[in-house]
Amino acid sequence: MSYPVQRPRRLRARPGLRRLARETQLGVEDLVYPLFVREDVDEPEPIDAMPGQFQHSMDSLVREVESSLRAGLQSFILFGIPARKDREGSQAWDERGVVQRSLTRLRESFGPDVVLMADLCLCEYTDHGHCGIVEDGAVDNDATLEVYRRIAVSQAQAGADVIGPSGMMDGQVGAIRSALDGAGFQDRAILAYAAKYASAFYGPFREAAGSAPQFGDRRGYQMDPANLREAVREARLDVAEGADVVMVKPALAYLDVIRGVAQSCEVPVAAYNVSGEYAMVKAAAANGWVDERRVLREVLLGIRRAGAQMILTYHAKEAAAQIPCWNELG
Ligand code: PBG
Repeated sequence: MSYPVQRPRRLRARPGLRRLARETQLGVEDLVYPLFVREDVDEPEPIDAMPGQFQHSMDSLVREVESSLRAGLQSFILFGIPARKDREGSQAWDERGVVQRSLTRLRESFGPDVVLMADLCLCEYTDHGHCGIVEDGAVDNDATLEVYRRIAVSQAQAGADVIGPSGMMDGQVGAIRSALDGAGFQDRAILAYAAKYASAFYGPFREAAGSAPQFGDRRGYQMDPANLREAVREARLDVAEGADVVMVKPALAYLDVIRGVAQSCEVPVAAYNVSGEYAMVKAAAANGWVDERRVLREVLLGIRRAGAQMILTYHAKEAAAQIPCWNELG
């Protein structure tokens, strides 16, 4: 049976009917707010290509988390910008490192309920800007795993609930899981950057984190944007190694990947709405070319509809303020 018996418009006629028929919900509890914390600054430094985002000082980080909690957010992921970089990225696992100190400070300030995640990578900490240990001009996978193990334990020690390895080394999830378990941190979860593509959408982040590679690029470890089946393979491998959550990154040009991973893995799926995606919305809105609030709702709904349960997004705080109104929208 078709028209005139079938009339989909019936359920669009009034706000109450539209709300009943709505298939996808957005909640503040779905959002994770990424924050940058920079060592040795007293004032937050605005990030040019990410309007509204800052390289925080330790104090401004605490204030930002405090106001975000008031806005209804509960989860944060930290990226550190150390004062000193070296070949091995040793600040990444220093117990006095900027992320370690920030985690401890946030835990002390906000107690057990705040969810604290730590990105685990070397690119912000190495002088060459690559995500691993470089030997003879190339990233050495297995030497890097040894360093990742140390970073994971130091982040757990400092109070991270969730460790997010983002370097795309083979075996990184298994290596981190065994290191955490061996150090008594069986209770800490791993958010695996399972399908992380070699993407130009990370441009603003590299400015924010000072993490652009000084030679070559990341195509030897991050994924080819042309591949979907490989993403499913990566996610399955990570689950087998002990990942608690698998993530797809970036989000918007990869919605089919989110869907594919969600259909083939039983763990929750996260998506990273990355810096370049944020920058595009902000730039178009600043020019008056799009209605920012409505575009943001569609961006987040699209990512959820594709199959992501949680979304890492720089829009988290503004979305938290808008979500109650969106949910009222008929
Ligand atoms: C570090 C890392 C990157 C991002 C998150 N973790 C950058 C990269 O791989 O170059 C990108 C996040 C964003 O663009 O918002 N490996």
